[in-house]
Amino acid sequence: MSNKPVTVVAIDGPAASGKSTVARATAQALGWVYVDSGALYRGVTWKALRENVDTRKPADVAALLPQFAWEFFDDHRAIRFTIAGEDPGQQLRSELVREAVSDIATVPEVRAFIVGELRKMTEFGPLVMEGRDIGSVVFPDTPFKFYLDANPVERARRRAAELAQAEGRGDLDQVLSSLTRRDQKDSGRKTAPLQIPLGARVIDSTQLQVADVVALILGELRRAGVAP
Ligand code: DC
Repeated sequence: MSNKPVTVVAIDGPAASGKSTVARATAQALGWVYVDSGALYRGVTWKALRENVDTRKPADVAALLPQFAWEFFDDHRAIRFTIAGEDPGQQLRSELVREAVSDIATVPEVRAFIVGELRKMTEFGPLVMEGRDIGSVVFPDTPFKFYLDANPVERARRRAAELAQAEGRGDLDQVLSSLTRRDQKDSGRKTAPLQIPLGARVIDSTQLQVADVVALILGELRRAGVAP
């Protein structure tokens, strides 16, 4: 048996930078497992809301963590999970969860718990994992780190279009101010703030198509000899 570490592609960046679409497409092109780390932060938020925990009280949120068992599974090469046997599904994307999640993501105990779970996911095989701290905290030793960015108005435009499709409404100004608020919270927090990981390749996707960004990433993996 070889001790070769499992390859992890870390894709970080702010909200609506296109990292989910890019990470998913990259994983699909490689047949590797896709991990949306934000879904775990949303999972804690969802459970906290259901248990009527005040999501602005870090100690109450931290106390919730040991009470419920999480199970992770590979669903067509994307990681999904249940919490206490329940699949949160699309509720992870609800407005209530969306508005509360950045408070939850500041709680150090929550971050430590999630980082531990994310590291264990190499058991599923080579990974493409997206988030805010994957290259900086979760897998700082991976040689494959990317930081996706795009200008805020373009990001808001993309997110508004997604919302319009999913929920039938997406007001650009409102989305822009909510994005800006979340960017500030994600970058300003003390624990694992959003930052460009050391050694990450920064890709500005403002003027790029998803396929172009995926091609850049695949090109780097091919040059390193880890992708066909
Ligand atoms: O990517 P997303 O919108 O699903 O992320 C939800 C929240 O979780 C957002 O406030 C940022 C936070 N997050 C984080 O702090 N670290 C990660 N690795 C992923 C998400």
